[in-house]
Amino acid sequence: MDSTTAKDIAYSIENRKYLGSKKYLKGWILDTIVKTTGDLSGFLDGFCGTGVISGEALLRGFKKVTAVDILSANTVILKAFYHCRVDKKDIDSVIDYLNNLRPAEGYITSHFSGSYFINDNCMIMDAVRDEIERLFTTGEINAELYNYLVAGFILSADRVSNTIGQYDAYLKHIGSPSVKEGRHLVDTRVYSPFRLKSLKTKYTENIKVITGDILNITDSINADTAYYDPPYNRRQYFSNYHLLENFAVWNKPPVFGKTKKYRHRKMLSPFSRKRDVEGAFNTLLTRTKADRIFISYNSEGLLTVDELTGICEKYGTITLYSYPYRIFGNGAGISVKRRITEYLIAIKKKRKR
Ligand SMILES: C[S@@+](CC[C@H](N)C(=O)[O-])C[C@H]1O[C@@H](n2cnc3c(N)ncnc32)[C@H](O)[C@@H]1O
Repeated sequence: MDSTTAKDIAYSIENRKYLGSKKYLKGWILDTIVKTTGDLSGFLDGFCGTGVISGEALLRGFKKVTAVDILSANTVILKAFYHCRVDKKDIDSVIDYLNNLRPAEGYITSHFSGSYFINDNCMIMDAVRDEIERLFTTGEINAELYNYLVAGFILSADRVSNTIGQYDAYLKHIGSPSVKEGRHLVDTRVYSPFRLKSLKTKYTENIKVITGDILNITDSINADTAYYDPPYNRRQYFSNYHLLENFAVWNKPPVFGKTKKYRHRKMLSPFSRKRDVEGAFNTLLTRTKADRIFISYNSEGLLTVDELTGICEKYGTITLYSYPYRIFGNGAGISVKRRITEYLIAIKKKRKR
């Protein structure tokens, strides 16, 4: 038994490299929300992604947080962090067991070896992911532990993937130095062995996590404050995270093309299509029950800030907050910093007569 595996390093929700994560802006966003509303009852995080905003809302004292995302890979991670009550000793023992399985060839090895992962890691991952599923379907582990292990699997897979953190491409130079002439070729972590690790869980009943399309469910969610951080450009989240979603759902779909995506049209967001984005905001705002709505958007979005505030004004009185900052761009693997402005639009909804 490998006693060092489970105990050494634990993941936290802040650990993730995720497009559009508000990890560095969550303080500013929640300061603004709390100052504006003064109401700490219900909080809806409608496009929760990594869940860092939900986590911050809990810290600020919101009594009931509802976190929604269309990707199971995101919601399973949040469920694992907030809803797992399994004893730490039992978790460590199953992690040690899984980390010591004999590697085996399976779905991951057949489809993703030599592209997204090195072959040795594919074989370890095949053994581990299949065994997590078997333990759950035979009733040997409960749903809380299953979510925990699937979440850990996704976070560990992400650590050893041959990508810059998104799965719309993989780096082509396995075996090369990490960086050459400023261009990122391959991450050294790709060569480390895949290991499950533990999570820094924070059990609470004050958060509900829902997997689904917010456009279809927002009218069923009771919260006085709604925060929306939708995709803002043409990059579809499903296309960028298809592989993590594949590992979360684990029904082994056929994959296609160079990037090895599977078909899932329902996952494609209207917020990432120029012709649909205005309609999507109108649907969202019409269906939202909350009196106070906050929308994150930025200066590189499909809509200009004037276009977006124009839409929001139809639903109530608005206040626009701005936060200029610098981000790393992704110029084909070359890191460059550029200035953008993050917007937070507060809407005080008109009361229906
Ligand atoms: C900009 S990211 C949110 C980032 C998040 N605030 C954070 O700090 O990590 C947008 C998120 O919206 C999700 N998404 C896209 N369309 C959606 C929909 N119709 N319903 C729910 N979630 C959706 C994506 O999966 C993605 O996680």
